[in-house]
Amino acid sequence: MERNVKIDYSNCLKAFIGEDGISIEDIKALQPKISEASESINQQKARGKLGFMELPYKDDLAKKIKTAAKKLSSKYENFVVIGIGGSALGNIALQQALRHPFWNLLDKKERKGYLRLFVPDNVDPDLISGLIDVLDVKKTLFNVISKSGTTAECMANYFILKSILQKKLGKKYNEHIIVTTDAVKGYLRETVIKENLLSFEVPANVGGRFSVLSPVGLISAAFTGIDIEKLLNGARIMDKACSSDDVFKNPAALYATVQYLYYWLKRPMSVMMPYSNALYGIADWYRQLWAESLGKEVNRRKEKINVGPTPIKALGATDQHSQMQLYMEGPQDKVITILSVGKFNSTVKIPLIDGHYLGKHTLNELLKSEEEASRLALTKAGRPNLTVSLPEISPETIGQLLYLLELATAYIGELFDINAFDQPGVELGKQLTYALMGREGFEQQLSEIEAQKKKYKENKYII
Ligand code: PA5
Repeated sequence: MERNVKIDYSNCLKAFIGEDGISIEDIKALQPKISEASESINQQKARGKLGFMELPYKDDLAKKIKTAAKKLSSKYENFVVIGIGGSALGNIALQQALRHPFWNLLDKKERKGYLRLFVPDNVDPDLISGLIDVLDVKKTLFNVISKSGTTAECMANYFILKSILQKKLGKKYNEHIIVTTDAVKGYLRETVIKENLLSFEVPANVGGRFSVLSPVGLISAAFTGIDIEKLLNGARIMDKACSSDDVFKNPAALYATVQYLYYWLKRPMSVMMPYSNALYGIADWYRQLWAESLGKEVNRRKEKINVGPTPIKALGATDQHSQMQLYMEGPQDKVITILSVGKFNSTVKIPLIDGHYLGKHTLNELLKSEEEASRLALTKAGRPNLTVSLPEISPETIGQLLYLLELATAYIGELFDINAFDQPGVELGKQLTYALMGREGFEQQLSEIEAQKKKYKENKYII
C-alpha cells in the first residue's frame, strides 16, 4: 500500500493568498536546516533515543496484544483506561477515529464481542463518582497506564477503583487489572510483581505524548476491536515516506517547515480543524503533542528566549458558527490546518421536504461544501491554510496521520533548536501538588506555598 495521506500547502503560498503567503524559495532556504534536522533525527534514532520511530515495526507486540484482547474480551463488558495526558489522549483519539460514534451504546453483539471504552482522564470527583455509578466492576477490565508509575491523578483513580474491585471481588480483583508502565521502575511495576498483575511495558525511550502506537494506545484499541496491525502498517508507510532529507519529498519535514516559517512570520497560533467528528480526538491529541513538545525556554546566544506555537483545536462545520469569524477577520496570527476526509463510512441523504434545495443533497455533500467554502473564504481573506487529506478513515490512514504529526513534531523541535521530548515546565506544578498533598520530601515547596498564601491573605483582590 502506498502513502495516501497528503498535505496540500498551496494556500500557504503567495501565489494563492497574496502578501501574507510564503514562497517556495522561503521553503528552499530552510533546506540546509532540514538536512541538519534529518541527520540529527537519524543519529538520535540510531542511538535508540527516538523510540516512537521504532513502534511501527513492533508487529509481534501488536499480535501479542491482539491475542490477549481476543482471549479476555469474552469475560468483560467494559474497558476503563486509568491514565492522564499522553497516557489517555491517544486512546481517546483512536477510539473516536476508528469506532462507531456511539460505541458504548451498542450492545455486545453489535460491538462484535469487543468492550465498551471509558477514559476518565481527570480527578474530578463528579466524573469518577459518576463512572462508579454506571459501571458494573465485575464486568470491567481496568487498564492502569502510567509510564512513570507515580503520576498523582492516575494513582488516585487507580486506588479508588482498585479498592472497589477488592471489596466486590476479594482476591480475584487482580484478574480485572492490566498495568502498562515502565519495564523496571516505579510503584506500578512493583505492584505488578507483588500482586501478580498482567502487564505491558512502555518503552523507556518513548515519551508519553509519543506513545499512542505503543501498548499505551494499542491495548484499549485492541479491546475495542480496532485492527492495530493495520494501524502500525499505516505508521510504517508514513515512516518510509518521510525518509528523505529533501523537504519537498518528506511530508513531516514539509509540515514542520511551513509551521516554523509562519511562527516567525508572527503566526504563533496553529489551528487544527478536522471536518470530521471522528478526527476531533486527534486534534486534541495533537494539541498536547505540539504544546508539551514545543513550548520551551531555550538559550540562544547566551540569551533566554521562549518559543512554541499555540495549538488550537476546532471542528468543522460546528466551529464555523463559533470560531470562523475570528479566523477570518481577527488578528493575522494563525495558520490553519484543515483535516479532510475523502469518503465517509456512511452516506446520509437529506429528505426532500417542501421542495427545499437541501433535499437534493446528502450530509456528505453539505459537510464537503462547508469545508470547501471555508478553505476558499480563508484563502480569499489571505489567511494561510493547509489541508491534510485522508481518502477515508481507516486504521491505515489514521496510522499515517498520527505518525506524520509525531515526526513533524520532531522536525520542528530541531528547527526551533529545542528538546521536543522533555517537559520541564510541567514539573513545578507537579511538585507543588505533591507538597499540598503531603508527600514526603516536598517540605521546601510547602513553605513556599504557605508564604504565598499569606501574601494573598494580606492583599485581597477579590470582587
Ligand atoms: O507526554 C507526557 O510525557 C505527559 O503528558 C505524560 O503522558 C503525563 O504526564 C502522564 O505521565 P505518566 O504516563 O508517567 O503517568
